[in-house]
Amino acid sequence: MEEYISNNEQDTKEIALQISRKLTAGDIVLLEGDLGAGKTAFVKGIIKAYGGDESQVTSPTFTIVNEYNVLGKTIYHFDLYRIESVEELFNIGIEEYFYSVGICFIEWPERAEELFVGSHKKITIEKTGETSRKIKFEEIE
Ligand SMILES: Nc1ncnc2c1ncn2[C@@H]1O[C@H](COP(=O)(O)OP(=O)(O)O)[C@@H](O)[C@H]1O
Ligand SMILES: [Mg+2]
Repeated sequence: MEEYISNNEQDTKEIALQISRKLTAGDIVLLEGDLGAGKTAFVKGIIKAYGGDESQVTSPTFTIVNEYNVLGKTIYHFDLYRIESVEELFNIGIEEYFYSVGICFIEWPERAEELFVGSHKKITIEKTGETSRKIKFEEIE
């Protein structure tokens, strides 16, 4: 497990850059943390790290998933906040995304815990002040 301290949104994006180097094709990366913790900001940092345009990153709250194609990599960005049941995820074929070579980032994985029993990576963002955050990175087998 690794821990990072962020003092502002820019720091969080820098930490995302560092963590991006530990990720590989097909990874499933859970993003845990309260509303406003910086989960979407973290994904902006990831897209920038991979050579994409971070301003294209918007919260997929209503679409469940957004896809970004950056320099030969595919990034899937999920937000499960609004789902009513795991059925909705099976309906969009969520397993296809998980088995693909794209890297999946998932906000609010707590909404569908039963899907994440296999190996994955987990980022936890904890608010420690107005703009300060503790960011943990774990690899779960
Ligand atoms: N250290 C920080 N890291 C990330 N975001 C921060 C930080 N400090 C303040 N913020 C602000 O918190 C908000 C985080 O929003 P967002 O990334 O959408 O959160 P989430 O997706 O976790 O709900 C943004 O308005 C951002 O500017
Ligand atoms: Mg978000």
